[in-house]
Amino acid sequence: MAPVLSSQLPRWKKYLGLLLAAAVLGALLSFGLNSWRSSSPGQTGAGGATTVNNRSSRAFSQPAPGLSAAEFDQHAEGDANFEAVFVTAPAQVNPGLGPLFNNAACVGCHIKDGRGMPEPGQSLVRVSLPMGEVNPAMGVVPVPEIGVQIRDRAVYGHVPDARMAMDWQTQVGQYPDGRAYELRSPRLKLTQADPEKPLPDDMLTSLRVPPPIFGSGLLEVVPEVAILDQADPDDRNQDGISGRPNRVWDPGAQAEALGRFGFKANTVSLEVQTAVAYFNDMGVTNPVFTGGQASPDVDQKTLDTTTFYVQTLGVPARTLRDNPQVQRGERLFAQVSCTACHVATLKTGPADIPVLANQTIHPYTDLLLHDMGGGLADNRPDFDASGSEWRTAPLWGLGLVQTVLPYAGYLHDGRARTIEEAVLWHDGEAAESKAQFMALGERDRAALLQFLNSL
Ligand code: HEC
Ligand code: HEC
Repeated sequence: MAPVLSSQLPRWKKYLGLLLAAAVLGALLSFGLNSWRSSSPGQTGAGGATTVNNRSSRAFSQPAPGLSAAEFDQHAEGDANFEAVFVTAPAQVNPGLGPLFNNAACVGCHIKDGRGMPEPGQSLVRVSLPMGEVNPAMGVVPVPEIGVQIRDRAVYGHVPDARMAMDWQTQVGQYPDGRAYELRSPRLKLTQADPEKPLPDDMLTSLRVPPPIFGSGLLEVVPEVAILDQADPDDRNQDGISGRPNRVWDPGAQAEALGRFGFKANTVSLEVQTAVAYFNDMGVTNPVFTGGQASPDVDQKTLDTTTFYVQTLGVPARTLRDNPQVQRGERLFAQVSCTACHVATLKTGPADIPVLANQTIHPYTDLLLHDMGGGLADNRPDFDASGSEWRTAPLWGLGLVQTVLPYAGYLHDGRARTIEEAVLWHDGEAAESKAQFMALGERDRAALLQFLNSL
C-alpha cells in the first residue's frame, strides 16, 4: 500500500495528533501536581508515595499508587485471599477452617480493611494466667487446654473454648467549664462451653477490636533505631512521658526482636501477624504455625501474598488542610503535647517494595508503649508490656473510621463511641496532656477534634 500523505487524511485525523499531545500533557501535569501535593510534608501525603486521594467508605481498601504491574497483580491476589471465606476440610476451595476459630475470613473482622465492632465474632479475647512459667514464644503464661486466645466458635462436632458475651457500663464526668460527658466501658462475660476446658478463676482477659490495617507496611520499614531513639524509658527529659519498646519473639528468626504490631506491639512483622491471624483467629494452619501438620492448610505463597496485600494498601490523604479551624486544631494538638506520643512525622528506610522505601509519613505514632492508666488497663502483661501499657495508636485515617464502618468504636476494645471519648479515656502518662485538652475552651476543643477528623 502506498504511504498516505498528511494532506490526504480526513480533517479529523489531522487533529488527532494534536489532541493526543494535549491529553498526554494534561495527564503529565495532573500527575506532577498530585505527586507534588502528596509530597509536601504535614500536608496531604499522610502515607508518602502510598497516599490515595479517597475519602469514601472504600478509603482504607485502595492499593497504593505506584505499584508495578506485577506488584498490582500480587496485591489483587492478596485481596482475594483477604476476602476468602474458609470452610471445613475437605473442600474444593479454602479448606482448613477451625476446628476452633473466631471468624472464617480476614475481612470478616477487618471490615473493608478497617475496624471491626466490639462484638463476639469480630473482637478477640486474649487470655493468660497471672502466675506460672511464661512461654518465651508467647510472652505470657498460657491457659491450660486453651492457650492465649478464646476461640468462641467451632466447626460441626467441636466445642468452642468458651462462650462470649458483653454489656456496657457507663460513667459520667465533667469538663472544667461544666460541660458533662458520659463514657462507657465493656464488661466481658465468658462462660465455660466445654466440660474439659474449665475457665480458671484467676484468668487474665483482654478484649481487642480489629484495628485498621492500611499503612502498616510503612510502619514495618521504619528503621528500628528511629523508633528506639524516641524511647525514654526512665523519663530523663522529665515530661512525665516515658515510652518503651516491646521486645517480643520472632518465630521466623527464632530470636527476640522489636515488636511493632497489635495493640501492645507484641508482633514483630506483618508476615507473623498474618500467620498468627490464620492460625489463632481462623484455625488455618500455615508454614509459620503448622499445628503439627505436614502439609498446612495454606502454603507459603498464600501467606506471602496475603501479607503483601496488607503491606501495599494506600493511606488516605488528609482533608480540609486549608481550613483555619483545622489548622488551629493542629497547633493545639501540639500545644497540649498530644504529639509527645502521637509523633506526626516518621521516615521509612530501605524496603523490598519500592513504594514503601524512604518515605516521609505522618502516622501520628511513636510505635512505643505508654502507661495509659487504670481506666484503660487490661491488667494482662504481654512480653515486656505491662497490664496498663498500650502502643500509641496511629491516627492517620481517623476521621474516616465511621465513614468506612458506621458505629465503629475507638481504642483497643472499641469502647469510645466518638473521637472525643477516646481522648477523655487518656490517663497515666497522658494525664497531663488530657487535662490540658479538657481545660481548653469549647471552641478550641472543637478545633482540635476537627483537626483529628481531617486525618
Ligand atoms: C476474629 C477477628 C480477626 C480475624 C479473622 C483477623 N483479624 Fe487481624 N486483628 C484482629 C484483632 C483483634 C487485632 C488486634 C490484635 C491484638 O492487638 O492483639 C488484629 C490485628 C491485625 C493486624 C495488626 C495491625 C496493627 O496495626 O497492629 C494485621 C496486619 C492483621 N490483623 C491482619 C489480618 C489478616 C491478614 C487476617 C487474615 C489472615 C486477619 N487479620 C484476621 C482481629 C482479626
Ligand atoms: C502518653 C502517650 C499519649 C499521649 C500524650 C496522647 N495519647 Fe492518644 N493514645 C495513646 C495510646 C497508647 C493510645 C491507644 C490506647 C488504647 O487503645 O487503649 C491512644 C489512642 C488515641 C486515640 C484513639 C485512636 C484509635 O484509633 O482508637 C485518639 C483519638 C487519641 N489517642 C488522641 C489523642 C489526643 C487528642 C491527645 C492529646 C490531648 C493524645 N491522644 C495524647 C497515647 C497517647
